[in-house]
Amino acid sequence: PDDGPVAETVVAEVAAATERFGGSLVTSPVTVDEALACDVVLAIVGSAGTVGTASATMPPPPGHPPRTDPYLRAVQAVVEDLLALGSSVLSPGMFGLGRHRGRTVVVAADAAGLLYGLHAMVRRGEAALSGLDDFVWDLPVSSVRMLDHWDNTVVHPVMGQVERGYAGGSIFWSEGRVRDDLSRVAQYARLLGSVGINAVGLNNVNVHAAEARLLTDHVDDVARLADAFRPHGIRVYLSVSFAAPITLGGLETADPLDPAVQDWWASAFRRVYEAIPDFGGVVVKADSEGQPGPFAYGRDHADGANLLARALRPFGGTVFWRAFVYDHHQDWRDRSTDRARAAYDHFTPLDGRFDDNVVLQVKYGPMDFQTREPVSPVIAAMPRTRLAVELQVTQEYTGQQQHACYLGPQWAEVLEFPLAEDGRSVAYIAAGLSEGDGQPTPAGGIVGVSNVGTDEFWTGHPLAQANLYAFARLAWGEEDPVAVLDEWIGLTFGDDPVVRSAVHAVLDDSWHTYESYTAPLSVGFMVRPGHHYGPDVDGYEYTAWGTYHYADRDGIGVDRTRATGTGFTGQYPSPWRDVYESVETCPDELLLFFHHVPYTHVLHSGSTVIQHIYDTHADGYDEVVRMGGTWESLRGRVPDAFFDRVSERLAEQERSAREWRDHVRSAFFRRSGIPDATGRTIY
Ligand code: GCU
Repeated sequence: PDDGPVAETVVAEVAAATERFGGSLVTSPVTVDEALACDVVLAIVGSAGTVGTASATMPPPPGHPPRTDPYLRAVQAVVEDLLALGSSVLSPGMFGLGRHRGRTVVVAADAAGLLYGLHAMVRRGEAALSGLDDFVWDLPVSSVRMLDHWDNTVVHPVMGQVERGYAGGSIFWSEGRVRDDLSRVAQYARLLGSVGINAVGLNNVNVHAAEARLLTDHVDDVARLADAFRPHGIRVYLSVSFAAPITLGGLETADPLDPAVQDWWASAFRRVYEAIPDFGGVVVKADSEGQPGPFAYGRDHADGANLLARALRPFGGTVFWRAFVYDHHQDWRDRSTDRARAAYDHFTPLDGRFDDNVVLQVKYGPMDFQTREPVSPVIAAMPRTRLAVELQVTQEYTGQQQHACYLGPQWAEVLEFPLAEDGRSVAYIAAGLSEGDGQPTPAGGIVGVSNVGTDEFWTGHPLAQANLYAFARLAWGEEDPVAVLDEWIGLTFGDDPVVRSAVHAVLDDSWHTYESYTAPLSVGFMVRPGHHYGPDVDGYEYTAWGTYHYADRDGIGVDRTRATGTGFTGQYPSPWRDVYESVETCPDELLLFFHHVPYTHVLHSGSTVIQHIYDTHADGYDEVVRMGGTWESLRGRVPDAFFDRVSERLAEQERSAREWRDHVRSAFFRRSGIPDATGRTIY
């Protein structure tokens, strides 16, 4: 019932696999005789109980008699099981996979679900084709699982082609146009579809002049990319400039309440949908870090977002409106302005005013993708607004794909965090499993900023592929980041137990290691300004960006309490507003985000703040040295080119970790005058 490009992809995948292994493929309609010997059955189950099937016959394993049960009985039984669950459970992307009455069966509610089920079967490997009955249902927690590419179509003089990209150029664009050869995009689309990604943003959220024109002059280019993604169940989105009616349309205003502006957007989108009927919609960074927005006309973010939403509505498109809005012209002496407060202060008064095809896209933390931040309180504060949580897969502040830093544990912590007063997690809220006025909120989604480029290993650091994989699996709803990493290791390197345990030893705890030699206790922004790589304790301390840690000779950290600070703790629901308010209950790893404390302050761990700074930086470096040794033990066990690239990066990580260690330890010895109790050298 749901034929189309995705169903064709499933058939093509199964055809290629059966051919490779000497089997054969039967697509529906099949005769009972043809069906009798099928080993694998894939079926889309329509809501009326109708079944379309693609069934593969594999040669029986040696010594195994051919199967004789009529496969139709198996399919029918599965259909009955499915319908017994009630048709309300048939949701998009859902699939059932397992051994059922001696067959391997994949059933799904739609073609995308069948695709996900097929790939889940592949992930299981040979185990999927044997064994006893163990049928499981799986479905994505969040309905939108999106990767945003910060790609420019032309090389930007400061930011390069991919803003905060560490893996070469854009796989989509070259010299202002879509690439002629999209074979790499096709591989990428297949990769993303195999792990359940269903939306991709094609260009940078900072929309420069050339990229603004994608919406109007280069829709044919966008259509070619949409064609590459469609067979894998992925819809494409564009970042657009709020000023486009002026810069592209020649109007004098971009005021959202002006009818000429509304008409301009309506006709721009009409032309896009003529070329791309399943175009997803737009991503918008407005009134943020210099991007144009509704403020120029005395309008607010709801006016701005709804302008685009209403123009997209007739075609089924969605607006992802980013909440990354703050004053980037601050003065460090002004203690009344707190960047961490900004998104909440701007957006929560607008709860309930956004149209239902607007999703508010909120960074996971209140600042900006730091190594550690508390979860953004905005996520629990807008029950009548669709919310997406934005994570950064590209490692801007986490080692720039020079450092091995597996971010799965960070994202799992964020997504599982029980932020809401009634204990609902961030992932649940983003999935729309929340209640506003007693009504379920429509789903928002999980969004990640992609880490992929033209690099031969796709991600610069080959081990950063694990981050791309983990993002998708956690966005789907998997919860255990180490189990997800284990999947990636198996799929990437095979079954060698030595490789498996060494890669775990390098990556499992690498986020904590990175945190320890860079910015422990959630003190952010000790990076070199501009490119954000390497240590600079005061690099952002006096700039206009609101990024201060206030470290002086007496203490360090930002007082964000209600009692004596910026009041940011008051943006949290109970119990977090009180947990974070008091140094007694604030977790050590978030201490400096919420409190300004003396260096002699004693942590829950028993150590003082200054000794913690000394210890973590020294121990973190030692851990990086150990990671290098562990990787070295794999020489000859993983492909040479892969091995060599990781070795190069680990050497740079070691150099950089030493620099961080010495820079930060010296800076805080100089500031505090307190020696390192362990007597380790301070350079
Ligand atoms: C960070 C990043 C910018 C990016 C911005 C955003 O600040 O450094 O390059 O544009 O986030 O998310 O919009």
